[in-house]
Amino acid sequence: MDGGIAAVALGGAGLLTGSLTASFGRDRPTAKARQSAAPAPAGTPVTVAAASVPVGGSAQVKDPASGDAVYVVQPKAGQYCAFSSVCTHSGCAVDAPKDGQLYCPCHGSRFDAATGAVLNGPATRPLPKYRVTKEGDSLHLGPLEG
Ligand code: FES
Repeated sequence: MDGGIAAVALGGAGLLTGSLTASFGRDRPTAKARQSAAPAPAGTPVTVAAASVPVGGSAQVKDPASGDAVYVVQPKAGQYCAFSSVCTHSGCAVDAPKDGQLYCPCHGSRFDAATGAVLNGPATRPLPKYRVTKEGDSLHLGPLEG
């Protein structure tokens, strides 16, 4: 009789330990992944190394307010700005700038990678443009320009 109770108690403790271990094992990496995947809260500065944005190239960051992907570009040496990756036609993601243009694979719109202006429809409005400021070796994503 006593042995039976002890076995039940041990069994219960075993289950508890097992579930604690399992949840610790699961939660730690998940919490980390969640932290890095979550968009930064609004107001958090978004910074990228200037070296990662060569002339004609781009670096992708996230708008902390909307979570949308943004391309930071340097169309001419020392001239930085950024464009939303959300196509103004129907909201598809435009490709990273290439040959001075941002191309939308959904319906073929093309945007100027220096100004965001529409080069080829069906989009009719330019890509939203962000201000970018350089400080030392870092580029800071500024607010959307009106
Ligand atoms: Fe980009 Fe239609 S959504 S061209």
